[in-house]
Amino acid sequence: MSAKPIIVFKKISDMRRAVAQWRAAGESVALIPTMGALHAGHVSLVEASRAHARRAVVSIFVNPTQFAPNEDFSAYPRTFEADLAKLADAGCDGCFAPAPAEMYPHGFSTKVIPRGPALAGLEDRFRPDHFAGVAQVVAKLLNQAQADCTFFGEKDFQQLAVIRRMAADLDIPTRIFGVATLREADGLAMSSRNVYLSAEERAQAATLSRVLRESAEKIAAGAAVGDVTARAGREIEAAGFVLDYFEARHAESLAPVASRAEGPIRLLVAARLGRIRLIDNWAVG
Ligand code: PAF
Repeated sequence: MSAKPIIVFKKISDMRRAVAQWRAAGESVALIPTMGALHAGHVSLVEASRAHARRAVVSIFVNPTQFAPNEDFSAYPRTFEADLAKLADAGCDGCFAPAPAEMYPHGFSTKVIPRGPALAGLEDRFRPDHFAGVAQVVAKLLNQAQADCTFFGEKDFQQLAVIRRMAADLDIPTRIFGVATLREADGLAMSSRNVYLSAEERAQAATLSRVLRESAEKIAAGAAVGDVTARAGREIEAAGFVLDYFEARHAESLAPVASRAEGPIRLLVAARLGRIRLIDNWAVG
């Protein structure tokens, strides 16, 4: 059976017109923002959107404003034709793939400066301008698509909190959904950047999810939060990572938590293996 043809929109106006026509026909529309290099985790976002919307549009745009000069913007994997084939197989209706000049035309001068969860002292400590770039491009994408609902992976947990806050604060009329992280068989969270891992690093990388899971189980069983996170950090370093953080945070506010009595807990980790920086997170209970 051949896959349904997918419409590629290069222009904001073309995507808007298609979305408006679908909505005028009574069909709800989901937007799934991505930077391409699509994997099964992205496909799971398209699948999750099916429960909430008749049509799915995936955007593919490697957004320069969320990369620091020392980060991998030019080397970020770009696999557009393979991405389109995956989206067609997933039954996606449209792909919005704007050129940089369509998103940031000459004279573009507006910034979106998120605060609140964007200053939680997690990713922002290591990537100070990252969430301003993410908030800027996501605000644009949400306004451009005008979709009923929008789907993001929970793997970038702080990003999801920043986007929820930004969309609420700016009254952007779309429902934001977070979708559980898809994992490889050994537990490694799926990520477009996993392709950079050497075979040896790939074997070590699953340590993060194992330590997260075991730590969440210990806290759920009553162990002291501070003891568990300190031990987890030491274990990750002993496995050869350079640890940026291993933190227990309130699952909604991202405020530090010292005990389960303070509300639902999310464990969040970031650590470097060679040149590659990995992040992951896990719910307690
Ligand atoms: O998570 C990503 O892929 C990106 O940060 C996003 C949300 C598509 C914005 O560029």
